Amino acid sequence: MLGNFIYSNPTKLYFGDEAQRHLAEALRPYGHKVLLAYGGGSIKRNGVYDDVRAALAEAGKEVVELEGIMPNPTYEKLMEGVRTVRQHDVDFILAVGGGSTIDYAKALSAAAWYKGDAWQTFWVEQKDPAPDQRILPVGAVLTMAGTGSEMNGGSVITNKEKGMKIGKVFKENLYPRFAVLNPKYTFSLPQRQMVAGIFDTMSHIMEQYFSGDDDCTSDYLAEGLMRSVVAASRVAVKDPLDYEARSNLMWASTWALNTLIAEGKTEDWMVHMIGHAVSAVTDATHGMTLAAVSVAYYRNMAAIAPARFARFAKVVWGIPADGKSDAELASEGIDALGAWIREIGAAPDLSSLGVKGDQLDAIADATIIFRGGYTLLTRDDIMRILRESL
Ligand code: NZQ
Ligand code: ZN
Repeated sequence: MLGNFIYSNPTKLYFGDEAQRHLAEALRPYGHKVLLAYGGGSIKRNGVYDDVRAALAEAGKEVVELEGIMPNPTYEKLMEGVRTVRQHDVDFILAVGGGSTIDYAKALSAAAWYKGDAWQTFWVEQKDPAPDQRILPVGAVLTMAGTGSEMNGGSVITNKEKGMKIGKVFKENLYPRFAVLNPKYTFSLPQRQMVAGIFDTMSHIMEQYFSGDDDCTSDYLAEGLMRSVVAASRVAVKDPLDYEARSNLMWASTWALNTLIAEGKTEDWMVHMIGHAVSAVTDATHGMTLAAVSVAYYRNMAAIAPARFARFAKVVWGIPADGKSDAELASEGIDALGAWIREIGAAPDLSSLGVKGDQLDAIADATIIFRGGYTLLTRDDIMRILRESL
């Protein structure tokens, strides 16, 4: 285990098929006026809204609602939230939904009382709110497993005007104070969204796993999580109401991106940078953008770090070594990843998301490039990976 670090995660989790029973108790310590933030209405159709309103009433809260938070939430929508918070002077933000709604709540917490240009400061310059700036505590009720937003500081905002989608990882004071994780709340997800969340989880683990070459405990944890995701995914795509599979997927997605398996790792995140650029240009579903570019991206990385990809093939996919070279095993491991993408119904390529060849330049322009797990890519490399992903 290399690296020196301090580990702490402040989010309190309530997990299980009755987790919402703890919501009133979780809300009680916070202020009186709660902003209830949610998306396009799925929570009104599946009963989650009623559960949440009942808990808010039980906790004696006054509620202001903010609805219509869209997938890939926009900066424009964030500014609407800022006006609402200032008008009603709320004390707490309760996000009920998937990663988009929870990311939005963190963004709103940071932006609500900030006097400058929030996009420039928090997303472009990647700064954190100053210690004396007012931020609002956030809580979450999760309805879609995948992003890990329920237990991390991530907040991805799309600026349509600038054609950019940028993630900011805020510090612990913006992590949700608590998160209610009821796997049954995810039962009403359309299959395509469930699959997008499954691939997103897998991608988060791979982004951290494919970096470094030391013997790191985080890698062993990552391998266990990946095996659990693959096993549960195979059950869930056939029987989406299988509670055991859906609960494993929810728990694995939380631990995939709550900083645990990043400790001691340099991490990569270039699949996400390319995926965000695809979403910025096309508004495609996050998890699907990652699936569409992963096989091509990892073939390029395996040429640089064959031993790590050979280990992935053996441990995660159970491919026998049988005297094969690392390069051969690496290639079979990536084949297995590609086959699994098709098996669960994730996007096998960019064309399946409607991306056209003449959009690749714009996607490459919107891709933020930094040193990933094994190399520093150039814009030409990004273009090659995009072409190979079409
Ligand atoms: O808006 P509603 O009507 O609720 O519908 C949503 C939305 O259309 C629907 N949905 C969610 N739960 C449902 C449901 N429909 C029926 N039943 C339910 N139980 O699903 C659709 C997608 O929801 P969304 O929140 O957009 O999905 P996801 O959780 O994948 O979040 C995606 C956003 O998170 C960011 C992504 O970039 C994207 O903007 N990410 C956040 C990260 C983080 N905080 O660390 C990391 C990720 O890598 C990711 O970048
Ligand atoms: Zn992701």
